[in-house]
Amino acid sequence: MKITLSAIKADIGSIAGHTQPSAAVLKTVRDFIFREKGNKIIDAYVGHCGDDIHILMTHTHGENNEQIHGLAWNAFQEGTKMAKAEGLYGAGQDLLKDAFTGNVHGMGPGYAEMTFEERESEPFIMFAADKTGPGAYNFMFYKMFCDESFTPGLILSPAVKKGFMYTVMDVNYTEGDKVVELSVPEERLDLATLLRDENRFVVEGVCSREGEHVLKNSTSRLHNIAGKYVGKDDPIALVRAQKNFPATEELCAPFRIAPFVTGDARGSHIMALMPVTLNSPASSDMCNPIVCAAGFSMKNGKLTGPVDLFADPMWDAIRKKAQKKSIFMREQGWFGAAMATTEELSYTAMRDTLAELDKKFHVRK
Ligand code: 13P
Ligand code: MG
Ligand code: MG
Repeated sequence: MKITLSAIKADIGSIAGHTQPSAAVLKTVRDFIFREKGNKIIDAYVGHCGDDIHILMTHTHGENNEQIHGLAWNAFQEGTKMAKAEGLYGAGQDLLKDAFTGNVHGMGPGYAEMTFEERESEPFIMFAADKTGPGAYNFMFYKMFCDESFTPGLILSPAVKKGFMYTVMDVNYTEGDKVVELSVPEERLDLATLLRDENRFVVEGVCSREGEHVLKNSTSRLHNIAGKYVGKDDPIALVRAQKNFPATEELCAPFRIAPFVTGDARGSHIMALMPVTLNSPASSDMCNPIVCAAGFSMKNGKLTGPVDLFADPMWDAIRKKAQKKSIFMREQGWFGAAMATTEELSYTAMRDTLAELDKKFHVRK
């Protein structure tokens, strides 16, 4: 059976700043979506990571489908009404356009979609992050399909050893989708050359050598849609696991790195990406970036799960590590590597100040 997984997410308002949606907003979105179970959609799951609500839907309508995207868009609109009624902060933050035009591409919500012939057992993971940009997963996505010390399947399993093909997008190009395909392991070093720049080059997807979709990631840059800073992109990704693909534990292990990523308070700092449990609030310490992992099984589009993949005690140690890394970085405040590059700063005051100061500079005779 050919199934499409659609994970669509948006920040439509949160309590006491950029923390988490209210119970009423979540219920509004959930009820709106669940009404269509057995009708437009087969099954669904609704949750949140920090202030971003994610809607996962299974269906047979394919990708970029008007009915499916429209359902998520309208659920977010309904949720926004509730957020406004409650006076939540940033109500409707990620709904950047007024009229729905067929799909949510370029409208604010982030989305990852995959269509495939369902396997006899279909395990997959949805990763959702908050307070970070679309390239935050780059290093982990590299490790999953290129590094045999994280995915021993690359040397143990003949099927996994065949290699994979990445599609990487230049998210700063605004005239259309500018992408490149790279096969690994052959072009592994070219891939690394691109992925080091998390603010420009983003893994959009990964396929097997047979062309089967394994991974899809959201690639939206809200800044490019709105023309100004309106919040971080907070990416969402879907990754299929097991059999010919890396195992669930191989896909989760790279998050042990807790790499430094751009985002955090005012989207303008660098802190360590901390794995958290499902439906966690954002961190009130400088909005430390967070990521959660929801594991599902699927049969004929029906979901079983989620299992909270960052909930077991091992991840407590990783949380501590991420906290330590972030605390060390925060010791140096605005200095050097602790703050995003000048081009990436989400607010304009610093650039304005630099321009003013430039006028006062003079070359000594
Ligand atoms: P969000 O993108 O999660 O709304 O965060 C915005 C922000 O600037 C937090 O300081
Ligand atoms: Mg927000
Ligand atoms: Mg957010």
